[in-house]
Parts: sequence; C-alpha cells; structure tokens
Amino acid sequence: MNTDNIVLIGFMGTGKSTIAKKLSDRLGWRYVDSDQYIEAVEGTSIAEIFELKGEAYFRQLESKAIREIMQQKQQVVSTGGGAVLALENIQHMVRNGTVVKLIADPQIIINRVSRDRNRPLLKDDVKETVYRLLEQRKHVYDFAHLQIDTSTLSIDDIVGGIIKQL
Ligand code: S3P
Repeated sequence: MNTDNIVLIGFMGTGKSTIAKKLSDRLGWRYVDSDQYIEAVEGTSIAEIFELKGEAYFRQLESKAIREIMQQKQQVVSTGGGAVLALENIQHMVRNGTVVKLIADPQIIINRVSRDRNRPLLKDDVKETVYRLLEQRKHVYDFAHLQIDTSTLSIDDIVGGIIKQL
C-alpha cells in the first residue's frame, strides 16, 4: 500500500469532500478535490463543462487532473464519483496512494444530493438516476484498499476510523 497520498473514492453523496477536508486537517496534509482542480484550470464550473462540452470531454479533463494531482505527495484527494470509470485513473490512484472507498445507504445518498442541485448527472429524476447509477457502478469502487460507511457515523468518527485503518 502506497502512503504518499490518501485518495477518497465513492459514489456522489458519500461524503468524499467533507471527509477529505477534515482528514487533511488531522494529518496536516494538503486537501485537493479533483472537481475543484478542473474548475480552477478551466475557469468554469463542472455543470458548465457538461453543458457546453459534454461528459466525454469532462472525463478527459478528469483523467488529466487525476494524473497531475497524483504526481504530488502528502495530499488527501477527493475524487468525482465517476473518476474510477477509466482504468488509467485507477492506476494513478493505486500507484501513488492509499485508496479509501466511502459508501452510504441509497436513501441517505438521495437526501444528501437533493440538498445540493449542482450535479449535472442528477438534474432530472434524482431518485431514479441514483438507483440506476448505483446499479451500473456496483463494483467500480471495489479496488480500494479500505472502506468506510458514512451513513450514520459522525465526521470525526469516520476520519478516526480511516486513520485507524491506515
Ligand atoms: C460525477 C460526480 C461528481 C462530478 C461530476 C460527475 C459522477 O462529483 O465529478 O458531476 O460521474 O459520479 P461528486 O462525486 O463529488 O459529486
């Protein structure tokens, strides 16, 4: 297991950004979010990139972002829920970090993502789309080294649980 970085993966609404931020504070490491990285480089929002250029183009930007981010060390990285769909992204994550999979109950995911309506993949029927994508992506996060369920634990307990497993 490579300990240069910690990478959080998981479906939308599993708490990757929140946990990564807190975990980076605890470790004194840098916090990097792949979506924020893309937005900073492109000077526009993820929603706008999807709308103007489409998902395939976004996935190219995402792969470039993951490749660049994973060249640095001592970072807690939160990734977009679809960042694991490209094999090369998985390889960069695994070679350069410990990968932690966050999971949560579908209903909790739906509640969380319904509060924040900025996700382009969920702009139509949230419930139907979450269930469909969860099914489609059932095994894509399974390569992670560690796993933690964020459904009911407090943020501190989740962060503590990850640190204990490292
Ligand atoms: C996506 C998840 C989003 C963002 C984009 C696509 C996905 O990130 O990268 O909207 O394909 O699951 P979060 O997982 O942080 O919501």
